[in-house]
Amino acid sequence: MDKTEEDMRANCGVLRRYRDLLPITSATPMISLGEGSTPLVHSRYIGKTIGCEELYFKLEGCNPSGSFKDRGMVVAVAKAMEARSTTIVCASTGNTSASAAAYGAYCGLRTVVLVPKGAVASGKLAQAIAYGAQILVVKGNFDQALELVRELSNSHPITLVNSVNPHRLQGQKTAAFEVVDVLGDAPDYLFIPVGNAGNITAYWMGFSQYFAMERIARRPRMMGFQAEGAAPIVLGHPVEHPTTIASAIRIGNPASWRQAVAARDESGGRIDAVSDEEILAAYKLMASREGIFCEPASAASVAGLMKSARDGLDLTGKRAVCVITGTGLKEPELAAQQAAAPPLEIEATLAMVEQALDLVAMG
Ligand code: F0G
Repeated sequence: MDKTEEDMRANCGVLRRYRDLLPITSATPMISLGEGSTPLVHSRYIGKTIGCEELYFKLEGCNPSGSFKDRGMVVAVAKAMEARSTTIVCASTGNTSASAAAYGAYCGLRTVVLVPKGAVASGKLAQAIAYGAQILVVKGNFDQALELVRELSNSHPITLVNSVNPHRLQGQKTAAFEVVDVLGDAPDYLFIPVGNAGNITAYWMGFSQYFAMERIARRPRMMGFQAEGAAPIVLGHPVEHPTTIASAIRIGNPASWRQAVAARDESGGRIDAVSDEEILAAYKLMASREGIFCEPASAASVAGLMKSARDGLDLTGKRAVCVITGTGLKEPELAAQQAAAPPLEIEATLAMVEQALDLVAMG
């Protein structure tokens, strides 16, 4: 591909940009809501504090529905349309349902989403409502909702668009391609939150595909992080009642468990747990020191990076990428709750503004 063609493709969505590396046929509709081509931002603060000069954040919250899910959803929905499916379904902790609802609306499909009761961030639910999905609030957790949609799609002509649909991971692997396309090589380490374990699996697929094509000379170590109260892979057994402030990764029995363990082991990486306190500290630091407002689940990757550095991982001279999976705007209440004090209210006069800011009037 020559440079102009590559530039032209860069902002035309995942299907066109990576058409040669995706399971696309002449019958696949080349739909796009502008997903992919997300920024890779150089850290100005956290990297320095841990001795890693080349730390980057992959801002997946910049995707059209505000999370990385859009990369996989565009492929899953295009393939569903190719197969003449008219209904899609998913279980979700919020982001998958927002993404499915967006692409479902765009393509005129009936979209059904099952979400665990009281466990989805307000912005994600608002998206599913606005996009017009049929929302079923399940009196149970995510794992139970996933079981239900698996059964439903087995007995009805309905396409399941959770990450157990292989087209989802095909689309999500494009984030690994983009990291390499920007850096010119693979990073030494990739830090990523782990919930249902699809994304870590997809990144590993992407890096492995580029490695097989000799686009990179080596693959990164995959560093996955679960929340302490929802850490089945770390514990080595399912967690029946997962708990964590990071609702997006409140999952007790990940669908891609085996593949995530393979990615960890083949890459010489780790899957570890971080506490809610560590997640919240990273969430605040990302916004206040890096200018990146992410959701708590996304902060798990940053918390994991900082924990690894504290535990002695030497990142001097290494290149690391943290995947920031979703935007903090999904859950604005959390930021407000975390504020030290409510914003100051003043009368609408310059004098009051100056007084509030401890500024002396210039006369
Ligand atoms: N970060 C965010 C913001 C997520 O929404 C998710 C998963 C993950 C990380 C973990 O990714 O599941 O591929 O390991 N959210 C799913 C959902 C489960 O339903 O939106 P994973």
